[in-house]
Amino acid sequence: MNEKTKLNDIIKKLGLGGLPSLKELKFILNINEESRQVLAEAARGLSLKAFGNKIYLRGLIEISSYCKNNCFYCGIRQGNAKAERYRLSKAEILSCCKTGAELGFKTFVLQGGEDPYYNDDVMCEIVAKIKSSFPQCAVTLSLGERSYESYKRLYDAGADRYLLRHETADEAHYGRLHPKQMSLQNRKKCLFNLKEIGYQTGCGIMVGSPYQTAETILQDLEFMKELEPHMIGIGPFVSHKDTPFKDFPNGSVDMTLILLSVLRLMFPKVLLPATTALGTLDPQGREKGILAGANVLMPNLSPVGVRKKYSLYDNKICTGEEAAECRMCLRNRISKIGYEVIDCRGDYGIKY
Ligand code: 5AD
Ligand code: FES
Repeated sequence: MNEKTKLNDIIKKLGLGGLPSLKELKFILNINEESRQVLAEAARGLSLKAFGNKIYLRGLIEISSYCKNNCFYCGIRQGNAKAERYRLSKAEILSCCKTGAELGFKTFVLQGGEDPYYNDDVMCEIVAKIKSSFPQCAVTLSLGERSYESYKRLYDAGADRYLLRHETADEAHYGRLHPKQMSLQNRKKCLFNLKEIGYQTGCGIMVGSPYQTAETILQDLEFMKELEPHMIGIGPFVSHKDTPFKDFPNGSVDMTLILLSVLRLMFPKVLLPATTALGTLDPQGREKGILAGANVLMPNLSPVGVRKKYSLYDNKICTGEEAAECRMCLRNRISKIGYEVIDCRGDYGIKY
């Protein structure tokens, strides 16, 4: 069978709800430029059908660079003595939301390391205050693993969505990315708990993380089928100089784009961001992500003064003074590829 027929067969299979076989996945992860375009076009057709040419925005507020974990890939791991630490106060977070609301943002993503300072009382107060001050806005949390009760309290305080990348659904691979105190089993449990409570829930992986293989990616796809997430966050692994993974190569932009398309084909309605990591490795990465089937962008709303300190990986974009206003920048960039940024909450399952 020639490459084109093979590709079209896989596209059809994914579109019908099937998983690729390992052989098919290996094939698709290595297709040439021409085939990548065919794949992207098929995926883009589905995102256009689900969302039109509209791109949803999420304002990312990086609330804390303290983290009690020690994931081997991450620049804000506890063991990185060189990391500069900060945490935003409730007033600072609200001020970011106010700026965001004035710019038209309807979703705020509060993301941070696993920082015990933000216990349930503190966090519930922040969430409730954002929801009462900006009732038209959704709040997404991305604060790592917490107990069922904690997730429930935050949900009851008004949080709408939760992002928790599973990082890899392969046990052995998970063990090579994380210290032994962390477990894939707990990570998965958290994700199912979040869904059960009622959050719009997001999982995800880094593409090209150390020791990742087609086999581990297939497990990720299988896990996603089982979880049925509302959001999937994927971006390339970008090595950070002060982590145990400093000598590993960055993930591939092309493979990230291929996987974005595969995910769009498998999950036509899923909320799929073109991530900052993708924009970091390729100046046109986010645009390419949208053209490969992504439909969400997450500009940084953190105070400019802390942006460089929230350093998960090296050379992160939009951290300089010039980037105080990513939203206008993105609006222009997106219109150049025929898409339009829109000011709506962009909930799962709602067109706009
Ligand atoms: N490269 C790319 N992504 C990273 N993340 C953490 N460290 C890195 C890195 N070095 C991602 C993880 C995490 C999310 C918040 O950021 O997938 O879930
Ligand atoms: Fe941040 Fe352009 S998106 S400066």
